[in-house]
Amino acid sequence: MKIGVFDSGLGGLVITKAFIQTMPEFDYCYYGDTKNLPYGEKTSGQILSYTLEAVKYLIAQDCKLIIIACNTATSIALRYIQQRFIPAYAPDIKVLGVVIPTVEEAVFNGAGTIGVIATPATVRSHIYQTELLKLNPNLKIFELATPKLVPMIENNQFDLADEICQEYAKPFWHADSLILGCTHYPLVKNYFRRLLPNVKIIAQDELMGAKLQDYLTRHPEIASQLACNYNYQFEVSLINEQSAAVAQRLFPGIVIKEKASD
Ligand code: DGL
Repeated sequence: MKIGVFDSGLGGLVITKAFIQTMPEFDYCYYGDTKNLPYGEKTSGQILSYTLEAVKYLIAQDCKLIIIACNTATSIALRYIQQRFIPAYAPDIKVLGVVIPTVEEAVFNGAGTIGVIATPATVRSHIYQTELLKLNPNLKIFELATPKLVPMIENNQFDLADEICQEYAKPFWHADSLILGCTHYPLVKNYFRRLLPNVKIIAQDELMGAKLQDYLTRHPEIASQLACNYNYQFEVSLINEQSAAVAQRLFPGIVIKEKASD
């Protein structure tokens, strides 16, 4: 049984890379829905239906544990999948998201005034605000939708990064922490660190490896069912020259394939 990782596109490769760096022994199966990206601009119904399809696909690939590495899909679809889909259709499979580990990291590191940047759909769900306030009701939270970043990253237009990050960093001068609440944003974390030197930038590629390791230590009944053959499989719903180049940039040496059509 493998560890499945799902993202709406290629951004989740940086999270998968973090998992592999932390725990290289497991077998991983990555699936990025590049055909339907960006999820952040879609309706909740569309996001739920794409995410369900992806989870079913990863289950069919023999994944025992599935990480929805996409914040947008986590925000909109995780609760339904965990509470309705999994108990009815695949009770042996565990599905986790990325929001809870991220808010825990922020709050346990002493955040007080905290910014969140994310896709429009994630911000609309207010999942970060809700989960942060559960951990500390006294937090001051500012959420901002930052829709220019995902297309810039998926289209390999890093020449625009300075200008776009400057625009998005401005409202957070007075925050003590900023959550990069999208799987793609670790790719621009250094821009935000340079623009906001006094703000703790919380990047998911730096925390998810340890969080997953900790989860597996606490759940030996799941860890013991995972194959350890150092086998890594990367698939997307659509690949072209440009997405292949972005995948190489995010994960040098990667062999990425288009998923066979049903
Ligand atoms: N990967 C998604 C996330 O983490 C964003 C990309 C998209 O809009 O599809 O929120």
